[in-house]
Amino acid sequence: MKRTLLITGGAGFIGSHVVRLFVNKYPDYQVVNLDALTYAGNLENLLDIQDKPNYVFEKGDITDEARIEALFGQYAFDGVIHLAAESHVDRSIMDPLAFIKTNVLGTATLLNVARQHWKGHEDGKLFYHVSTDEVYGSLGQEGLFTEQTPYDPRSPYSASKASSDHFVKAYYHTYHLPVVLSNCSNNYGSNHFPEKLIPLAIHNIKHSKPVPVYGKGDNIRDWLFVEDHARAIDTIFHHGRLGETYNIGGFNEWKNIDLIHLLCKIMDEKLQRAPGTSAQLITFVKDRAGHDLRYAIDATKLNTELGWSPSLQFEEGLEKTVAWYLANETWLDNVTSGAYQQYYQDQYNKR
Ligand SMILES: NC(=O)c1ccc[n+]([C@@H]2O[C@H](COP(=O)([O-])OP(=O)(O)OC[C@H]3O[C@@H](n4cnc5c(N)ncnc54)[C@H](O)[C@@H]3O)[C@@H](O)[C@H]2O)c1
Repeated sequence: MKRTLLITGGAGFIGSHVVRLFVNKYPDYQVVNLDALTYAGNLENLLDIQDKPNYVFEKGDITDEARIEALFGQYAFDGVIHLAAESHVDRSIMDPLAFIKTNVLGTATLLNVARQHWKGHEDGKLFYHVSTDEVYGSLGQEGLFTEQTPYDPRSPYSASKASSDHFVKAYYHTYHLPVVLSNCSNNYGSNHFPEKLIPLAIHNIKHSKPVPVYGKGDNIRDWLFVEDHARAIDTIFHHGRLGETYNIGGFNEWKNIDLIHLLCKIMDEKLQRAPGTSAQLITFVKDRAGHDLRYAIDATKLNTELGWSPSLQFEEGLEKTVAWYLANETWLDNVTSGAYQQYYQDQYNKR
């Protein structure tokens, strides 16, 4: 079946894996990647598919209503997979309004244009909104986030994502816009911008620089390999029920400090350093404001209803990830540009 899909944020970390999967797996689909190419967007993530006949890149901002209108007019999309967002919690603490603009206003703009274009012929259309488990707030030592967990966002990032989720559901209930949502746990894998924990640690260990760990490293996150997230999005896009939310997670909880020690061990092996060398770089820094203690996802619904489950064990995925960063030095050097250096200075040297 032929389809024309708009994927937003396709030059980013997760978006690039989703674009690659759809372009390669569905040669009959026309995939249009709309991305503003902020600091986090990088077309080098897509060099391997950029010349495929069923792929088009459009540079543009999701808050630009006239541009979105024009793209819907030009391509007559029948599906949207919406990933474009400001995505880094620390940056949201520095500049919350940028998050409200892109994540809330940008999502509402896309919803509104889709509603107008699909009005009266919604059959076969789908607006898929990609969201995060952070909307559910923070867990204590026990329990898991289910699809019924009430929203309790606690950072400007998670508040903006929660707000965008509410708009998606409101458009479903009010206008019968065909939507589906997913809320996923922390992703890791290749092409991850090195401001986030795992690529930042790999980058610093490689260059024998201090590895910053917030507080005592007690925060717990549930990690999922990014290609497994892309597979889940594929499954939900094709088989998810309209109006539903699906939680996506790896059933894979790690305390930050334990994860960093595992990473140090893998890096020592890969770089042929004496055991314990990389761990000496671990440096505890002042905790993030309002740092959520624990996130953990119950992905049972996605597993039992749609048959999805993660494909990789964490150690295996982390080894693959480290191997990718070590083999792609140019990618890493290119993204750790001047702007990145400034951000890094501001974030970690202000204490
Ligand atoms: N990274 C995770 O662990 C994780 C987990 C769960 C959900 N998510 C969600 O998945 C999505 C993608 O996350 P990511 O980690 O790949 O983010 P990312 O920051 O790597 O990529 C975001 C992309 O969106 C683009 N973008 C930003 N603002 C834009 C705008 N105004 N208009 C058009 N494009 C814009 C950027 O250029 C970039 O390519 C986000 O919606 C995020 O909330 C991420």
